[in-house]
Amino acid sequence: MYKFLIRPLLFLLPAEEAHEFTLFMTRFCKGPFKWISEKLFHFEDERLEQEIFGMHFKNPVGLAAGLDKYARALHFWPVLGVGHIEVGGVTPKAQNGNPKPRVFRLKKDRSIINRFGLNNDGVDALYKSLIGRPKSLPIGVNISKNEWTSNEKALEDYLTCLDRLHNSVDFVVVNVSCPNSTNVDQLQEKNYLLELLQALKNRRKELGSKIPLLVKIGPDVENDQLKGMVDVINQVGIDGIIASNTSSNRTDLQTSKEKIQSIGCGGLSGQAITELSSNVIRELARLTQGKVAIIGVGGIANAEQAYEKIRAGASLVQLYTGMVYEGPGLIKKINKGLIELLERDGFESISQAIGADL
Ligand SMILES: Cc1cc2nc3c(=O)[nH]c(=O)nc-3n(C[C@H](O)[C@H](O)[C@H](O)COP(=O)(O)O)c2cc1C
Repeated sequence: MYKFLIRPLLFLLPAEEAHEFTLFMTRFCKGPFKWISEKLFHFEDERLEQEIFGMHFKNPVGLAAGLDKYARALHFWPVLGVGHIEVGGVTPKAQNGNPKPRVFRLKKDRSIINRFGLNNDGVDALYKSLIGRPKSLPIGVNISKNEWTSNEKALEDYLTCLDRLHNSVDFVVVNVSCPNSTNVDQLQEKNYLLELLQALKNRRKELGSKIPLLVKIGPDVENDQLKGMVDVINQVGIDGIIASNTSSNRTDLQTSKEKIQSIGCGGLSGQAITELSSNVIRELARLTQGKVAIIGVGGIANAEQAYEKIRAGASLVQLYTGMVYEGPGLIKKINKGLIELLERDGFESISQAIGADL
């Protein structure tokens, strides 16, 4: 029904408005609608369960940052059977992001280009939205700096977000890879990263908190830079890595050059970056030797693509663009498919498949 009816209708709207409309509609998923949706979309199997970061994950498939930026539909996602949610990106103060239009579908590539520029209502508003959040699944927050904050002062912005939200969420993701907000991705440079991650870790200690800290990186980093980042991550002792954010790459697209040019700058996500992000995960897993948990994200739209990232070294996976093209049944489809793939390969649980290709 999604592909033949709902998606064509949603795609009549501009991409950002379609997304807003979908999130708005989730508030009507109550009573019998909720019951029916749960019956349709739920899938549980203990072979998919894992303990990571000292937390229980019912399955490995979660929602990527940006999909429920404002934490508006937190009670709806468990209905779809998601294993975890990452809300945000959030910055200390509210900011508008870039002018519209700023999200574009590349239908031929099953991909999206966005240049939202970390639009959000600020950390206080997100704090309020998280009050009364569901406790049945881990919820993380993606934190970043305001666009007007220089990289020299970025630290204070990240610390503000950690201070305000560490009691409201289960893990914190340090976003140093947004390609659409001023210079955020430069924070991946070794010196900035070391100072930033060390300061966050020190603050966590001062707060008496044990909240896992993860860092989210981009897919366009060279292997040398990746190695430098892993050195920093090992040195500081960070709990996890999310790979990857959107890409600035535009090669091998089916969409015409004219259309790509007319869209302009932005981060590419979806099928066009599946391989790119898997390569980064593989390299990260090799460099970290399984000592740091990896969450794999980028161009997952079926069980095989999720499984590929898991076999490449990811303990968990996340989706955004796949949900836009495949619809709400995708989480169940992937989880069910993962069970078939585990059985095919003779694994007794998902944990056994992590890094199997290394
Ligand atoms: C419209 C849009 C908004 C996004 N916003 C954020 C964000 O605020 N913070 C972040 O770290 N990643 C953000 N992302 C990146 C996704 O979390 C994800 O890393 C990326 O899209 C690759 O996954 P996908 O191919 O499944 O979409 C956004 C992606 C899209 C498409």
